[in-house]
Amino acid sequence: MLDWQDKVVAITGASSGIGAALAAQLAGRGVRLALAARRMELLRDVAAQVQGQGAQAPVLVRCDVTDWEQVAGFALRTREAAGAADVVIANAGRGDFGRFESQDPDIARTVVDTNLLGVVYTVRAFLPQMLDRGSGRLVLVSSVLGQLPAPRHAVYGATKFAVSGLAESLEYELQGRGVGVTLVEPGLVRTGFAEISQTPPERFHQMPSQSADQVAARIIRAVERERRHLIADPASRWVIALRRHVPGIARVVFRAAFRRLYRGR
Ligand SMILES: NC(=O)c1ccc[n+]([C@@H]2O[C@H](COP(=O)([O-])OP(=O)(O)OC[C@H]3O[C@@H](n4cnc5c(N)ncnc54)[C@H](OP(=O)(O)O)[C@@H]3O)[C@@H](O)[C@H]2O)c1
Repeated sequence: MLDWQDKVVAITGASSGIGAALAAQLAGRGVRLALAARRMELLRDVAAQVQGQGAQAPVLVRCDVTDWEQVAGFALRTREAAGAADVVIANAGRGDFGRFESQDPDIARTVVDTNLLGVVYTVRAFLPQMLDRGSGRLVLVSSVLGQLPAPRHAVYGATKFAVSGLAESLEYELQGRGVGVTLVEPGLVRTGFAEISQTPPERFHQMPSQSADQVAARIIRAVERERRHLIADPASRWVIALRRHVPGIARVVFRAAFRRLYRGR
């Protein structure tokens, strides 16, 4: 069981939602935080909240995860200011919703760059310092859509399938080298994500959702227990099991469910 006291935890996408909730909850556990995002004003608000709980001032870095130099700079600054990272949470991501044929190609590119390359860059930037010390944990935030293909989320889902695959590849590659991997797959979470990705607001009445705080608490527990995989949405677990064990039946069920969800639209 991991003891958080004095651990260095780096989080991307820490300015809002799940990342900000993780920072707030970890602050109470005595960790040294290194937080990154593009919106510095929000990141400073998170830092003020963290310090209000009596935690040390976090390392704050303005960082666009789609830019390798900036991500490498975040890793370097973390090591210089706080020491090698013990836990790295690659959480930054953005959504995308809409019919595939009318998707803006520039947004598709941003979604791929943020959700996939952003995670690749984050792992690539931090892993050497973790391997040097021979310990640590990488936490990759994917989505249940990384296991459940869904209409109108095609590009987003594809990036999350890639992240789920990346986590498993890394797990094998890092075997016996002291660095563990935790793959996190949240379901619907009530954050600013829905607005940015133009997810229909009625989705929150149609499906179970969780707060960022609930998901953050589950992630923290999973890391403490060195779990390899967390489906952070209890309601999705049986759906994922259905697809895995009886894919033919799952396809029929999903088609009917999606037809009903998008009836007339
Ligand atoms: N909300 C959901 O329903 C849901 C479901 C499953 C999985 N997830 C995943 O959970 C993660 C966190 O999402 P959230 O729900 O907490 O959404 P959120 O509140 O919109 O937070 C997203 C975070 O990512 C950061 N970000 C976005 N693009 C970035 C970039 N290019 N460079 C650096 N940071 C960037 C944002 O910071 P700045 O804008 O300040 O840079 C923000 O801090 C994402 O990976 C998302 O895919 C969310």
